[in-house]
Amino acid sequence: MEKHALIIGGTGMLKYVADWLSKEGYKVSVAGRTQEKFTEAFGGLPAAERRITFIQTDYNSSDTFAKEMKEAIRKQGNVSLCVCWMRSDAVNSFEWLISYLAESNRTVQFYEVKGSRASREIFTSSTINNLKWNRVILGFKRENGLSRWLTDKEISEGVMNAIKKGKELYITGEVEPWDQRPG
Ligand SMILES: NC(=O)c1ccc[n+]([C@@H]2O[C@H](COP(=O)([O-])OP(=O)(O)OC[C@H]3O[C@@H](n4cnc5c(N)ncnc54)[C@H](OP(=O)(O)O)[C@@H]3O)[C@@H](O)[C@H]2O)c1
Repeated sequence: MEKHALIIGGTGMLKYVADWLSKEGYKVSVAGRTQEKFTEAFGGLPAAERRITFIQTDYNSSDTFAKEMKEAIRKQGNVSLCVCWMRSDAVNSFEWLISYLAESNRTVQFYEVKGSRASREIFTSSTINNLKWNRVILGFKRENGLSRWLTDKEISEGVMNAIKKGKELYITGEVEPWDQRPG
């Protein structure tokens, strides 16, 4: 069965992850609101590499999100890998996605991407039916005594490392000293 990766927010800083997964042989679906962002991110790829499909959806509207995701998964096939960068207030869509993927008859590696504040919480990876819930935390970089947030490339590389290493909890960049994070 063909491997299918779903990336929520995959037209932004995770576009390098989508590109990498497609080169790794995945059929990739990226979800976002704006078609133009998708075309800008992937329109220039050579035809042979263009195994990336756009799901136009807004996770702030949980009912339509659920309908559109179900339809996309029906067309593209069950998901084996999901990378999810969603605003933390989109709780209904997030919870729906986790439970829908968990009910699938296919094993799903789920990588939730979170900002640095998540490093202050305890996270224990869990398995829900067929879904394995992992987390990637985005930290910051300190260079020459100054702190800065990660670039899009660094963020994508961090997520790729977590997937390659099969990490349940992976922090990319630094999260300590906490009071030295960028303003
Ligand atoms: N620790 C760190 O260093 C750190 C952490 C977080 C962010 N950042 C930086 O901050 C920048 C901006 O962050 P960002 O959150 O705007 O990330 P982004 O990845 O650049 O954009 C967000 C992604 O999610 C999609 N999206 C947003 N709202 C959506 C919705 N309601 N429904 C469906 N899809 C939605 C966007 O597409 P649409 O807009 O088309 O929907 C896009 O694909 C990033 O480029 C990154 O470099 C750094």
